[in-house]
Amino acid sequence: MKQKVLVTREVFEEVLDTLRADFDVTANQADKPYSPEELAQALADKDGAITVLTDRIDTALLARCPKLKAVCNIAVGYNNFDLKAMSARGVLGTNTPGVLDAATADFTWALILATARRLTEAEAWLRAGEWQGWKLKQFLGMDVQGATLGIVGMGRIGQAVARRARGFDMPVLYYNRTRLAPALERDCNARHVSLDELLAQSDIVTLHTPYSADSHHLIGAAQLAKMKKTAILIHAARGGVVDDAALITALNSGTIAAAGLDVYENEPKFNPEFLKLRNVVLAPHIASATTNTRRNMAMLAARNLTAALTGERPPNLLNAEVLK
Ligand code: DGY
Repeated sequence: MKQKVLVTREVFEEVLDTLRADFDVTANQADKPYSPEELAQALADKDGAITVLTDRIDTALLARCPKLKAVCNIAVGYNNFDLKAMSARGVLGTNTPGVLDAATADFTWALILATARRLTEAEAWLRAGEWQGWKLKQFLGMDVQGATLGIVGMGRIGQAVARRARGFDMPVLYYNRTRLAPALERDCNARHVSLDELLAQSDIVTLHTPYSADSHHLIGAAQLAKMKKTAILIHAARGGVVDDAALITALNSGTIAAAGLDVYENEPKFNPEFLKLRNVVLAPHIASATTNTRRNMAMLAARNLTAALTGERPPNLLNAEVLK
């Protein structure tokens, strides 16, 4: 008898083919998100699951899934897992680090350039038929070349963002709880500073820190007030790292100049006040969304699940204490 696994959202067919070689697979290729109740019912008889960031794995759910041995997220972030509860029940958890660094860093740069050069605002104006002709002062933006870049969260993605700044001749500051090794600092051409110093000195602040109780509203009214009035904020990390209501106030009042956002509190029902602002570029959580990257993320989740259910150590195990 094959073990039973659930794939909670649509994935590439080859991912299902890989899983079907070893498991009895239930897939949700219709891609309609499960409610918590539907997820609990679908997982009740399963040995393992491939999940996404909207699937909450917590004590209440685990209590209804007695056979569950492993849950493998298709995401580097795993704030949808209650890891303590999973460990307490002996359920392995995994994520997909590494394979999305380049795509996410590239998209961060897309947000930086689009925000600094007012690209989406200008395009909407053009599409609305407003363009009468060239003007010297039309859609004046901010120079990216030579601007000071401040990176909050200097993990793999933050480092990839820093490396891409070389082409723009930018001084790079970073804030991270742990300072990078000197060789890595040199490679990233980045200087370690306090969060306050980074906020005060940067022309572009970009966030790459995971979401947790510690990073909840890391950027709120007090931090935005420390930024330059001419600065822009870029956020492609996780909803909740920024206090969105405070950001909207700051964008309305000129506390900062503009923002480029890929993630929000309460996705997908983000604060509608963002839609009224012209000085914000808005994307629907797509920083890692290239075909290759999303395929690699899903395949890595499948590799993690196969390892977990066949007695091997999953390559991206989050709660190693379960194996002890
Ligand atoms: C991640 O990997 O955490 C991304 O946010 C998923 O798109």
